[in-house]
Amino acid sequence: ESPKVTVIGSANMDLVTSTKRMPNQGETILGNGFDTFPGGKGANQAVAAARLGAEVNFICSVGDDIFGHELLENLKKERIHLPNVKPVTDTPTGVATILLSDGDNRIIVTPGANANVTKETIDKNQDVIQHSDIVLVQMEIPRETVEYVIERCHIWQVPIIVNPAPALHLSAHHWDMATWITPNESEKEALFSESDYHNWKQKMIITRGKQGASYWTDEKEIVVPTENKTVVDTTGAGDTFNGALAVSIAEGKTLEDAIGYANKAASISVTRYGAQGGMPLKEEIGHS
Ligand code: RIB
Ligand code: NA
Repeated sequence: ESPKVTVIGSANMDLVTSTKRMPNQGETILGNGFDTFPGGKGANQAVAAARLGAEVNFICSVGDDIFGHELLENLKKERIHLPNVKPVTDTPTGVATILLSDGDNRIIVTPGANANVTKETIDKNQDVIQHSDIVLVQMEIPRETVEYVIERCHIWQVPIIVNPAPALHLSAHHWDMATWITPNESEKEALFSESDYHNWKQKMIITRGKQGASYWTDEKEIVVPTENKTVVDTTGAGDTFNGALAVSIAEGKTLEDAIGYANKAASISVTRYGAQGGMPLKEEIGHS
């Protein structure tokens, strides 16, 4: 049976401009190309998990506009369930303005309708969440919603991966209730002091780009290495990692195997443009 993964988070339209180099302050430069891609950390993680064979419910909010409808169409095409999702009329769909240069990126997210993922949204979807094997949440929806999701999952005893991206501070109480915390290196630095990090190290999985990802076992930090492929676009690599990790943990793999699998998925995702472009299907990864 397919693992049941519930993702709670953002859906954005990514407005991507490719350039030779990043512009300096006050400078105008000419770009090489422009594209729109479906994105948002929540949507990306949902797509990653669905392509890897999970039954995915995605709890999100989009505006009743062209971008919003396009995003929902894309999610349906990926066979993702959208419980209680109705475009909202008072706020535009979230957008991410992305500058892409040399495979690297700089991103500004304007949340728009993502702000409408509220505690009430969570209550409405209690049933779906309670029947999940695992829940995944990121930080592009309101903080109080993220905290509420963590509290609910704790009470309902549903494992939850908290991907603190972008870096957003939660109370110690909430980090305590998270099952897994998956920052990248800069989010880890921004959010946790050395002593905090040690306090929660057993639940920390740090993504380390070309180095792979690390976790703690027997009081030691182990880095699970990754294969380095030719990078076209790293946007969404972290999301691919998180989506794949959720599937793998829900399937009952060991943490080391789950991280190896997630590394593999992420390394394939960077070989194509767009956050969701390049995200592999289960068959492309094979066994881990
Ligand atoms: O993690 C990548 C994502 O961050 C992009 O798709 C963009 O929408 C921003 O949310
Ligand atoms: Na990609």
